[in-house]
Amino acid sequence: MKTRLFAKKSIESLLQQAEDSTSHGLERTLNVFNLTALGVGGIIGAGIFVLTGQVAANYTGPAIALSFLVAAICCGFVGLCYAEFASMIPIAGSGYTYAYATLGEIVAWMIGWVLLLEYVFCCATVAVGWSGYITSFLKDIGIVIPPYLLSGTFNVPAIFIIAIITILLLLGIRKSSGVNNGIVAVKLGVIFLFILVGISYINQENLLPFIPENTGEFGKFGLSGIWRGAGAIFFAYIGFDGITSVAQEAKNPQRDMPIAILASLLVSTILYISVALVLVGIVPYQQLNVADPMAVGVDALGEELVWLQFAIKIGAIAGLSSVILVNMMAQARIFYAIANDGLLPPQFAEIHPEFKTPHLATIVSGIVAAILAGLFPIDILGELASFGALLAFFVIAIAVLVLRHTQPDLARPFKTPFVPFVPIIGALTSGLQMLTFPLHTWLQLLGWLLIGLLVYFTYSRHNSLLNMAKG
Ligand code: ALA
Repeated sequence: MKTRLFAKKSIESLLQQAEDSTSHGLERTLNVFNLTALGVGGIIGAGIFVLTGQVAANYTGPAIALSFLVAAICCGFVGLCYAEFASMIPIAGSGYTYAYATLGEIVAWMIGWVLLLEYVFCCATVAVGWSGYITSFLKDIGIVIPPYLLSGTFNVPAIFIIAIITILLLLGIRKSSGVNNGIVAVKLGVIFLFILVGISYINQENLLPFIPENTGEFGKFGLSGIWRGAGAIFFAYIGFDGITSVAQEAKNPQRDMPIAILASLLVSTILYISVALVLVGIVPYQQLNVADPMAVGVDALGEELVWLQFAIKIGAIAGLSSVILVNMMAQARIFYAIANDGLLPPQFAEIHPEFKTPHLATIVSGIVAAILAGLFPIDILGELASFGALLAFFVIAIAVLVLRHTQPDLARPFKTPFVPFVPIIGALTSGLQMLTFPLHTWLQLLGWLLIGLLVYFTYSRHNSLLNMAKG
């Protein structure tokens, strides 16, 4: 029984599977530019447009730039681990597939289950943020959305954007990636504008003391505040892992996946730190405990910059849309990969003959994200998404070490440098950041894992194609 629970897929069979399903399934169309744009599209969103102000006001003060740096270091180390796997196993399942090859079926299942949670909660969180920005934008141009359409199960704009993106994703990876490229250009343009205009308004007094003194409570400013802030702002980096789920749709995944993962992380980190420094430089951080900190920053620059205010809202609406797009795309592909192995019903592994997309997996992902966006408040959704991502990161970093040990001679087109240090630091920083989350998040994740185990033992184990093949 033990061997079955921990049955592993060989890398050769995974590569063969990718070949088979690509010949009559997913389409290889994405180049390195598209992949990097998907990375940036999936990363830059609510973290910078919504969370920055709250983290600066509550935990870090001007030192929020250092929290961004700490979170980036953790993601960078894990990103290097992802890059090794993505180049070696360029298959749709991302962390789920990597775990299947290294740690065995039940661990893979649990990671897949956690990734489903990460992506769906991420989409729902960002859709609720999107709803806030579009409502405010429409109000500026004289269109008022009645409050009853914005709350509870009827957050209509959130459901609307999820529906639109689901339809786009159904229509094909080429179209989705094309739209993403456009949206990313708008969001990057707006972020550059904010930095370029804002930089000349920085008041040095706002930046001092750079690390405000701790109030006596852990996490409230001082060094512990930077650490806690890093945990809270970690959400801003979720998404780079999502691009590994389209490895099977990349033209040259072995070469392009590592480049796209690392380039999108680097671009995002530089922009985050720059925006954060400008923001706390133009507005005293105490005034930033709001849901639209960049808009508040522009407000402080004076009335003649009202056009920039407008641009920021458009940038945020664009930015949040691409995050939903990439994360929902990842969600559907994890779903597809798990079903392809028999661990979820085979319908979810069907590829639409014309659009070449996992259509049923995409529709179900959209429906679940829409329901969640209607039901839960934004902070609970965001916490669970971050927590799920950190757990997946922890496992992926460990998995690199395991595979280096068990199969040292496998062809690795990209090799994580300085092994074992990079994976160990990646695992440690992810694990330690998980410790900054409240007890209720741990319990919620535990509940999700228990449901996962139930599904595994009642359905997946009996339908696992790998186990059936092994007799
Ligand atoms: N990193 C994504 C965002 O900040 C989830 O919206």
